[in-house]
Amino acid sequence: MTDSDGESVIELRGLTKDFQIGFLKKRTVRALDNLDLTVARGEIFGFLGPNGAGKTTTLKLLMNLIFPTAGSARILGRSVEDTATRARIGYLPENPYFYDYLTGRELLNYTAALFGISPGGTKKRSEQLLRMVGLTSEQADRQLRKYSKGMLQRIGIAQALVNDPEVVFMDEPMSGLDPMGRREVRDLLLSLGERGKTVFFSSHILSDVETLCDRAAILNQGKLVQCGTVEELTGGKQSTLEVIAKGVESSAVGALLENVPHVVSVNPTPNGVHIILSDDTGLEATISFIRSRGGKLVSVNASRASLEDVFFNAERRL
Ligand SMILES: Nc1ncnc2c1ncn2[C@@H]1O[C@H](COP(=O)(O)OP(=O)(O)O)[C@@H](O)[C@H]1O
Ligand SMILES: [Mg+2]
Repeated sequence: MTDSDGESVIELRGLTKDFQIGFLKKRTVRALDNLDLTVARGEIFGFLGPNGAGKTTTLKLLMNLIFPTAGSARILGRSVEDTATRARIGYLPENPYFYDYLTGRELLNYTAALFGISPGGTKKRSEQLLRMVGLTSEQADRQLRKYSKGMLQRIGIAQALVNDPEVVFMDEPMSGLDPMGRREVRDLLLSLGERGKTVFFSSHILSDVETLCDRAAILNQGKLVQCGTVEELTGGKQSTLEVIAKGVESSAVGALLENVPHVVSVNPTPNGVHIILSDDTGLEATISFIRSRGGKLVSVNASRASLEDVFFNAERRL
C-alpha cells in the first residue's frame, strides 16, 4: 500500500527497537517489539499505553530521530529516512524544549522561516496559529521561560502545525493541561481531522482518547495489545454494572473486594462506595453486603466496557 492509492499514511512493519543500557554490563532493553500498524489518511489515531510502553520510542522512530533495530516505518508511502517527507508532517515532542529567551511569537516566526514561508506569510501564519491554540497576543509576546506547562504545550502544538502538515504526530499532546485545556486540544485535533489531516497521537489518558479517535492501538511493554475502533476495542466486551451505595463506611471496601465475587473495583465516595461488577452474577451478593453494613443502594447501572477496562484487562493479561 502506498500513499498514492490513498490508503495508508503511516505504515509500521515489524518495528523493533532495542536500547543498550548500563555502563559496563551491556544489557539490552527491548523498548518496542515487532510492531505492525497501519493508519489511513484522515484518521485520528490514538496510540495508547502506560508509561514505559514504548510510545515515545515509536514516535522517535517515525521522526527518524532514532533508528530501528529491525523492521521499517513509512510515512506517506516513503521510508522515514526520506527527508523530503518532513515538509509534509508536523511533530510535537513529548517534552518540547524551546529556546527559553524567545517569545512564543518569535518561535513560530522562526519555525515558519525554517519551512521557507515568506516574511509576510510568516506573520499571518503565526497569528492564525496563536488563535487556533488559544494563546493571547500578550502571552505570545512573553518569553517561553515564563510560560506555564499548558502554554508551552499550546505553543508546541502551534509549532507542529506551522507548515500546515498533512500528517501530525503528537506525543502526549494533552499532558500538563487542565480539563479545559485538554478539551481545547481535543477540539483542535478534531478540527484537524475534519480538515482531512491524519493525526497520530500518543496518550496515557484514556478518556481523552475515547471520544476523539477513529481508531486506537494499545501498547504495553513494547508490544501491541489491541488495535481497532474504540467500538471494536470495547464493544465485544460484556457490559459491566455500576453500583452506587451510600452510608457504607470506607472500611468496608476491602471486605467487599474479598467477599463478593465479580467485583472489579470498589472506590470510596464521600458518603458511600462506588462499585464496578464484571457481570450481574455478583449483584445480589453486593446488595446484601451493602445492606448488612447498614448502607443504602442508590443506583445500579449497566455500563459498556470503557477503553479503560480494556486497557487494564490487557495490562493484567501480559
Ligand atoms: N534512550 C534510551 N535508553 C535506554 N532505554 C530507553 C531509552 N528510551 C526509552 N527507553 C526505555 O524504553 C522503554 C519505552 O520507553 P518510552 O518509549 O519512553 O515509553 P512511553 O513513551 O510509552 O512512556 C522504557 O522501558 C524506557 O525506559
Ligand atoms: Mg512517552
